[in-house]
Amino acid sequence: MTLERYFHMLGGTGESSYAANSTLQKRIASGAMFLVEEAVELLVSAIPSSKTSLVFADLGCATGANTFVMLSAAMEAMSTTCTKLGRPIPEIQLLLNDLPGNDFNALLGPVLSSYKQKINESMSESGSIPFYTAAAPGSFYERLFPKRSVHFIYSSACLHWLSQVPLGLNSTTEGPINKGSFWISKKSPPNVSKMYLEQFQRDFSSFLKFRREEVHSEGHMVLIIPGRLSADPSTEESAVWISWYEEGLQDLVSKGIVKAADVDSFNIPLYFPSMSEVKSIINMEGSFEVIQEDVYEILYSDGLDAIPADIANIWEKIINISRAVLEPLLISHFGNSIIEPLFSSTLPKIYAKQFFKEKYKSANLAISLKKK
Ligand SMILES: C[S@@+](CC[C@H](N)C(=O)[O-])C[C@H]1O[C@@H](n2cnc3c(N)ncnc32)[C@H](O)[C@@H]1O
Repeated sequence: MTLERYFHMLGGTGESSYAANSTLQKRIASGAMFLVEEAVELLVSAIPSSKTSLVFADLGCATGANTFVMLSAAMEAMSTTCTKLGRPIPEIQLLLNDLPGNDFNALLGPVLSSYKQKINESMSESGSIPFYTAAAPGSFYERLFPKRSVHFIYSSACLHWLSQVPLGLNSTTEGPINKGSFWISKKSPPNVSKMYLEQFQRDFSSFLKFRREEVHSEGHMVLIIPGRLSADPSTEESAVWISWYEEGLQDLVSKGIVKAADVDSFNIPLYFPSMSEVKSIINMEGSFEVIQEDVYEILYSDGLDAIPADIANIWEKIINISRAVLEPLLISHFGNSIIEPLFSSTLPKIYAKQFFKEKYKSANLAISLKKK
């Protein structure tokens, strides 16, 4: 089954929604805004001053809470560059893409109107730049836009999601081969990490191939990908929380709430690449040249706006960060009945034991690309 059919972040703007639990992703995006500013400056300098509008796209925008980070950085850079060059500031067409199951109503309703207000406030000195929004539902592993129509493509915290669980993990002859784990773990057989890497190579190459068609000849892309620093994909470095979910599901198996066979056949379509893996795919695919790159780490605990004063609440707050991302995926495989025991009882105990044991970090790969 492909990811497109059942995957989305928790919608709306409520307490456990993605919109209310994406501070970590906001920090991840903020770390690479210098690349957005530089790309927009290069773009605006290369486009004729008679051009009155530019098309920007945010791929995998979810309910949009963090699109604002990119949009305001891009607008500042446009405004400064145009003033320096003495040319009029082009208007922006902003295309917001995500999978069709995404909560586009929340995105185009309350979230968008709060941006407009924030943009007007933050750009008040230089004057705000008019922007017009349209939703573009679909998978970024397919064509999304007309040929050469987009000037700037941005995607943050998305490309580690594969289009599907690697083929072969649930072999029809041998059954599930990644028993007891649902991702690349130390106990997984060695061919599991190879299958995940090959799926990432296929997906990321398709992403680049389709974007080559859509990006304008002077176009740029900035991609921020949660990744890893080490060569070994089975290190828990970027995804220690996945091992806590694995422990949580095993606990539900021991209590008879979940069947062991259901855990054995569950795998998540995520891959955290290294910068050398990303760059070798870009070089092999050949459509884009790397202008700049950066690798930086963000502490998981930075995903909290503030540590809640009420300690009983703290695990709920912390777990909501991954819950907003994983809950629809868990329900599609295990059904609704695991949600209450997993999130209210099992995971809070595991997180209480593990979360502050070390300063866990996520490694992020930011890369700025220009169409060749
Ligand atoms: C962790 S969220 C990041 C959202 C946002 N960019 C941010 O920084 O807060 C990942 C998003 O990628 C989207 N996504 C995953 N695979 C996708 C695909 N193939 N096509 C479009 N969107 C996808 C998910 O639906 C989800 O909304």
